Amino acid sequence: MPEDHLPSANPLSLGAAFREDDRRLEDLLRHVIDQLEAGHNDQARVLWRECEEGLIRHLQAEEAFLLPDLLTAKPREARALLEEHRHLRQRLAELTTGLHRAVRPDRVQAFVAELRAHASHEEKTLYLWAETAVERSQQEAAIARLGGQSTGASARS
Ligand SMILES: [Fe+2]
Ligand SMILES: [Fe+2]
Repeated sequence: MPEDHLPSANPLSLGAAFREDDRRLEDLLRHVIDQLEAGHNDQARVLWRECEEGLIRHLQAEEAFLLPDLLTAKPREARALLEEHRHLRQRLAELTTGLHRAVRPDRVQAFVAELRAHASHEEKTLYLWAETAVERSQQEAAIARLGGQSTGASARS
């Protein structure tokens, strides 16, 4: 796909938006850990819920708007990222169950490390590539999905 259709006045690049979202999710997880360490399990659950919803939106945004093109262009890399998403969803579900009872903060800390590894993998294989290879309307739809907004653009699958 040509690069020259990208507008020069780019409000927020795809990479910047997804990086910022990763930072926001990591901050939330740190607050979850703080609350667990303080024994404030109810607050931890509220923050966890926010983090869970945000992370699911993040994964869905990539899967709906970015990964289909990567699957065509670089199938091996796309499949590796999708496998990491599957793993992260499984870990999310385990921790959600754990949070309903009692979960040790170090388990949430381990999840922070897994998320960070995934984000750094995507930094190398997805975000920068997508900025030039994915149509701008799809990029904007992906960014909008992070914030929970709905746009007219529909997902390709
Ligand atoms: Fe991802
Ligand atoms: Fe991501």
